[in-house]
Amino acid sequence: MTNEFTTTQTGTPVASDAHSLTSGRDGATALHDRYLVEKLAQFNRERIPERIVHAKGGGAFGEFVVIGDVSAYTRAALFQPATTTRTLVRFSSVAGEQGSPDTWRDVRGFSVKFYTTEGNYDIVGNNTPVFFIRDGIKFPDFIHSQKRLPGSGLRDADMQWDFWTLSPESAHQVTYLMGDRGLPRSWRTMPGYGSHTYQWINAAGERFWVKYHFHALQGNEEMHGAEAERIAGEDADYYRRDLYEAIDRGDFPAWKVSVQVMPYEDAKTYRFNPFDLTKVWPHADYPLIEVGTMTLNENPENFFAQIEQAAFSPANTVPGIDISPDKMLMARVFSYPDAQRYRVGTNYNQLPVNAPVAPVHNYSQDGAARHGFNPAGTPVYAPNSFGGPAAQPELAGTGSWESDGELTRAAATLHAEDDDFGQAGTLYREVYDEAAKARFLDTIAGAVGGVKREDIRERAIQYWTNVDAELGRKLRERLAAGAPADADEAAEYVGVGE
Ligand code: HEM
Repeated sequence: MTNEFTTTQTGTPVASDAHSLTSGRDGATALHDRYLVEKLAQFNRERIPERIVHAKGGGAFGEFVVIGDVSAYTRAALFQPATTTRTLVRFSSVAGEQGSPDTWRDVRGFSVKFYTTEGNYDIVGNNTPVFFIRDGIKFPDFIHSQKRLPGSGLRDADMQWDFWTLSPESAHQVTYLMGDRGLPRSWRTMPGYGSHTYQWINAAGERFWVKYHFHALQGNEEMHGAEAERIAGEDADYYRRDLYEAIDRGDFPAWKVSVQVMPYEDAKTYRFNPFDLTKVWPHADYPLIEVGTMTLNENPENFFAQIEQAAFSPANTVPGIDISPDKMLMARVFSYPDAQRYRVGTNYNQLPVNAPVAPVHNYSQDGAARHGFNPAGTPVYAPNSFGGPAAQPELAGTGSWESDGELTRAAATLHAEDDDFGQAGTLYREVYDEAAKARFLDTIAGAVGGVKREDIRERAIQYWTNVDAELGRKLRERLAAGAPADADEAAEYVGVGE
């Protein structure tokens, strides 16, 4: 660092960083001490609103290298063989606020931004392959139920379980959340999923349905209740610190990136509705196809500029990739850019961390904190006859699907094996081993034990009975025996969310 002089924001050298301008040594402070006024005013404006969900997180830059060949399924440049793309990844907890402890039980966010030659492509997923609800219209209600009571400002087991038990489609995700997946050992040792079904389009215009999987090459590792609780008190930033220090010492975390690919026509007759975000596609039906490796090798230089102001959105797609008729995904495509215009500002995409490496040409202009602009002489409207940028009609219709065309408010079509509890039961019975099942019972007994209203507690027991009859029976016994029914202890289980 050079020995530079302090200046005002407009570059004028200043006389002191320690003494205000006063009339006499002990006199009143002068309002015309411009530097003092600027310094205090600027300080008051340092914070922007935290993300409405996923407020606490951390991230790093890296690269994604294509190893496989999926060019038969997508023409997206970033997925063509041997392509390398710079990435930004942000991990997060969901329900906790900015300063909340990293090791509260929760789902974890797993957001990836690919700075591709065709524009930014974002996969904004979680460390679970499913979600609590299947229609975006329920999202604000869901999140309200997991955050804080308006009066006391406290989290509340009754409202969490009230919402979940009245929304049985949540069972699969709650089974993940209350299991080991709800407490990863670090961000480096957890998987990521795009969760939704997305659409890929190949060079011939053929369409496919895909799901993304990121498997940590470090392996999956969890922590258990008591340790997580201790760390929450000792080091609230445990995950953030772990990631930063690992990258700092050159121990770069990496994930294998794979996809499941479903031929377009299969969606109509598949045994589960493939656009239902509460369902997975068993790998036996659609095996994983390896695409490449994502490695994180560069810490942010400035947390606020590069992580806090980062804006990830499922709306950011590139040619060869599109969305699907998943009602959650369609809601999210609106929600994220809207949140970011409010949270960061209208021109958030012009900030260096969000700006694409691909050139931007369009007719939008002005707005607060505008930085980039078209060369003088560029027309300000389309169509024009002055040679301004023009859209490419050949792109129309690449991402598409048929629908019956009726406007309706109804649940999506049921497929043969669609129900709310089936896949949750399979996860509990077939994926969890005996030790994991025992921890799971401890966790739900603790969480349901914190519910005060008898009818909600009874519904919660029924909910787990629907997932697995034996599990429901054991839970009833544990609660009758007075398993940790203490509200403080239960609160530890309920740091849950999106
Ligand atoms: C963040 C809305 C479902 C993962 C956010 C934000 C909003 C939001 C408004 C804050 C964005 C910002 O300020 O930058 C919604 C809505 C949903 C939904 C309306 C349902 C309709 C989901 C699902 C997932 C998910 C299903 C995962 C599969 C995330 C992640 C972040 C986030 C990872 C943090 C992004 C970051 O790291 O900056 N969500 N969300 N959300 N959401 Fe969602």
